[in-house]
Amino acid sequence: MTAIRKDVLNLEPNGIGKVSMSVLGQKDIIPLWFGEGDLVTPKFIRDAAIQALQDGKTFYNNPRGMFELRKAVAAFHKRTVGADVAVERISLPGAATLAVVTAMQCLIQTGDNIVIVSPVWPSIFQAAEVVGAELRFVRLEEDWTGGRWRLDMEKLFAQYDRRTKAIFVCSPGNPTGWIATRAEQSAILDFARKHEIAVISDEVYGTLVYDGELHAPSFLEIMEPDDEVFVVNSFSKPWAMTGWRVGWLVHPPCLDEPMNVITIANNTGPATFAQYGAIAALSPEGDRFRAEMVERCRKGRDVVAQFLEGQNRIRWIRPEGAFYAFLHIDGLKHSLEFCRKIVRDARVGLAPGMAFGPTNDIASDSYVRVCFAQDAALLAEGLERLGKTAAAL
Ligand SMILES: Cc1ncc(COP(=O)(O)O)c(C=O)c1O
Repeated sequence: MTAIRKDVLNLEPNGIGKVSMSVLGQKDIIPLWFGEGDLVTPKFIRDAAIQALQDGKTFYNNPRGMFELRKAVAAFHKRTVGADVAVERISLPGAATLAVVTAMQCLIQTGDNIVIVSPVWPSIFQAAEVVGAELRFVRLEEDWTGGRWRLDMEKLFAQYDRRTKAIFVCSPGNPTGWIATRAEQSAILDFARKHEIAVISDEVYGTLVYDGELHAPSFLEIMEPDDEVFVVNSFSKPWAMTGWRVGWLVHPPCLDEPMNVITIANNTGPATFAQYGAIAALSPEGDRFRAEMVERCRKGRDVVAQFLEGQNRIRWIRPEGAFYAFLHIDGLKHSLEFCRKIVRDARVGLAPGMAFGPTNDIASDSYVRVCFAQDAALLAEGLERLGKTAAAL
């Protein structure tokens, strides 16, 4: 007998881990599998953290994040999407992953369910499993003719029942690069208000957009402060800070007091010196770096587009945001096997489509995900090897 929850004992590494775990650290692999680029965090951000350490900023801090940082986050939302977000609605529990978990902790009791728009980054639904939620997926559908992913609202809302606590939506999406329209966001918000459920909106790729706008539509632009909408964001991607573990959560003001307790329980906030780096990231210099990052990713997307012109078995729905190419390979049935083979034989690390949930999602098993926030030459080389392996299928 064991006191450990059965659903916890049943947790398994996700599909990306299943491919990467046995070969991690091998230097000759072209790493296109994880959700991070190859740029080191810019020097001015590293310097700010180093200075904080030199100044002895090594103590506990505000468990919800330093006030100065929370104010800088509020200013970021004002200048990027024009939203007024009161500092009392901003908490930094750690990175975005912990922000997602924190939102779920506020909403879910064992047996409740959460409706998740998929394909989606696996740690999202694994986090929901850890807090005891039943998962209900609604898969975006390929509109190959229109060249976009389509969210079927009727299917989404049909998942709702009395144990539903939240709808989770990530836009721009990982792995698809899909961007929810303002109309789709409004419909989700109206439904959530009507049924008294929450929305968790993961907007960590909000500024990584390529086709005109500077920010994807955000729930912050359409919601009222009291709406039960949790908006997740992170320093990880736009500022190349994945290892820093700093992100944030915008939450309803009624959580102002409870968040002090929850963030203490979870980690007592991010590392103090890392927060000084985050404050530097939110400076005008940080805005300039973000713009460079978008350009670099746009080039990465162009490299993939060029590669696809010469392929007749591999196609995509061109991503509108985030930094992934979700590539459909005609004839591919087992993406996990394929990714294990390509890393072993061709030394390219890719994420298998099956990783992005749910486990019985046959449709995504014909896909692999490539992170294109990479050096153009290395990316092109990785894609060429992918092309050869796919051609031999
Ligand atoms: C959709 C999404 N949300 C959250 C995260 C995690 O961000 P963080 O590094 O801040 O935990 C990722 C990372 O890949 C992601 O793709």
